[in-house]
Amino acid sequence: MRHFFLTSTTALALASGSAAFANDLRNEALELFAPLPSTIPALNANPVTPEKIDLGKALFFDPRMSASGVFSCNSCHNLATGGDDNMPTSIGHGWQKGPRNSPTVLNSVFNEAQFWDGRAPDLAEQAKGPVQAGVEMANTPSNVVATLNSMPQYVEWFTASFPEEAEPVSFDNFAKAIEAYEATLITPAPFDAWLNGDDAALSEMETAGLSLFIDKGCASCHSGVNLGGNGYYPFGLIEKPGADILPEGDKGRFAVTATADDEYVFRASPLRNIDQTAPYFHSGIVWDLKVAVQVMGESQLGEDLTEDEADKIVAFLGSLTGEMPEVVYPILPAETAATPRPTG
Ligand code: HEM
Ligand code: HEM
Repeated sequence: MRHFFLTSTTALALASGSAAFANDLRNEALELFAPLPSTIPALNANPVTPEKIDLGKALFFDPRMSASGVFSCNSCHNLATGGDDNMPTSIGHGWQKGPRNSPTVLNSVFNEAQFWDGRAPDLAEQAKGPVQAGVEMANTPSNVVATLNSMPQYVEWFTASFPEEAEPVSFDNFAKAIEAYEATLITPAPFDAWLNGDDAALSEMETAGLSLFIDKGCASCHSGVNLGGNGYYPFGLIEKPGADILPEGDKGRFAVTATADDEYVFRASPLRNIDQTAPYFHSGIVWDLKVAVQVMGESQLGEDLTEDEADKIVAFLGSLTGEMPEVVYPILPAETAATPRPTG
């Protein structure tokens, strides 16, 4: 009896100790990160409606938005494989290899700016880029609009999505519809449940990794809802990684601001679903997440992480992998005699 009493008291003390630890860690974490909202976020000058989401989804999956008729957004941001293409750098128009790794579109609505160098302020502005990029979809806005206007079903969908507008089928509205669809691609993860108060949502190893992520300084750059996507830092702040990881020709944000201080400056990457989106870095050269974590330790913090520390951080990063949006493949309108034919 006495034995039972002691054991249960000890157990109670231990339990309340670990609950206190979890609470302290949670309070600290809530200063740095935020859980995903449970509803679709509001977009700047682009009200989200069910019609617009459905239209955006059709456009996201439609390869006829590219000049060749081969590439859709989903080619490089495959929603079956974490919202990216799992290639070092993407293959686009005419089988050309692009210069950078494709980031995931999942949760991208929460990034403060889009692209590795943050050159697009929001998803609508972003969506106009790949359609026109020579190495991606190699199309023109006027050809996209002609393609859309050639299919009565698309004209109907645009009219329902932008009912107030005299000319609903436009390149701007194409981008706005895609932005509305992308705003739905949100993946609530165990880490969100834990931030919201569910102690059991993270394992001991994962909370140990979270502590390290904060204490070592990762969170000073990877913070906010997406644990990144909201600030710019030199890649190689303390020690420049090798030219394979940080190729000399890509100067990052320098191309956007033309300021010498921005040479080799990149957006701190958003880290949600990171264990689904290898290979890593804008060069896409590192396939192993643990190696990527160790590279970050050395290059950004001047810290040689031990195997055990790196394993724990990787375990924590795994808790950022969320429930993937359920995607029903859309049935797209059939082309007509007026639809521009594929080229290139
Ligand atoms: C970047 C969406 C087509 C390859 C991005 C980002 C988004 C996006 C939201 C930024 C994500 C972030 O910064 O975290 C789209 C949409 C597309 C499309 C809506 C269709 C209209 C493509 C295609 C390819 C591609 C067809 C490959 C051929 C890339 C690459 C980046 C990127 C390489 C990074 C480029 C850089 O940072 O300079 N895309 N994408 N995308 N996408 Fe796409
Ligand atoms: C990229 C994790 C510390 C800034 C990344 C990536 C990972 C990561 C996994 C690759 C993302 C991807 O390819 O999609 C970590 C961890 C850290 C840490 C675990 C702590 C050990 C930092 C710090 C800074 C920083 C302290 C800022 C001083 C960046 C930047 C990138 C990045 C700028 C983009 C690199 C590129 O252009 O390829 N981080 N990070 N990170 N991180 Fe960190």
